[in-house]
Amino acid sequence: MKNEEKVKASSPVFASRLRPGRRRLLREKLIAAAAKARERAVAPYSKFKVGAALLTKGGEIIPGANVESASYGLTCCAERVALFSALTAGKKDLIAVAVVARAPGGPMPCGACRQLLAEYAPAATVWVADSHALGRIREFRVQELLPSAFVIP
Ligand code: THU
Repeated sequence: MKNEEKVKASSPVFASRLRPGRRRLLREKLIAAAAKARERAVAPYSKFKVGAALLTKGGEIIPGANVESASYGLTCCAERVALFSALTAGKKDLIAVAVVARAPGGPMPCGACRQLLAEYAPAATVWVADSHALGRIREFRVQELLPSAFVIP
C-alpha cells in the first residue's frame, strides 16, 4: 500500500472528526499529560525539558519525555520516546500527539520526530503548548509538518 493510501485509510480516526466538546476535553487532557510527562524529562545538558503524550483512538494516553546522553547525539526527543513506548506496547491507532516545553507558542517537533510521526501516526493531529501557557494551544497536522515524507519506494 502506498503511503498516501495509508493516510486515506486511516482518515476516519482524525481527531478533527470528534464532537467539538469532546475534542476540546481530549485536547486539554492530552496537553496536561504532556506537561506532567515533562516533569520526568532527563535533560541535564540542555536543561530543555520536553513532554509529549500520544492519544489512541480508544482514548488511551501514552506519555514520553526527552532523555539526553553525555554523548549528545544519542539524545532522544520526547515525541519519539512516547511513540516508541506506544508502538512497543502494541498501540497503533494514534490520533493525536501533544508536546509541551518552555517555548513561546509551544515547541515544534524536530525533523526526525516528524519523519517518525509521518510513518506511524500519519493521521494524527499535533497540539503544542508553552508550559507557561497551557491554555494557548496551537494545532497542526503531521502531514502539514512533513509533506512528502520519505518512504522506501
Ligand atoms: N527535543 C525534544 O524532546 N523534542 C523536539 O522535538 C526537539 C528537541 C529535546 C531534545 C533535547 O533533549 C532538547 O530538546 C534540546 O534539543
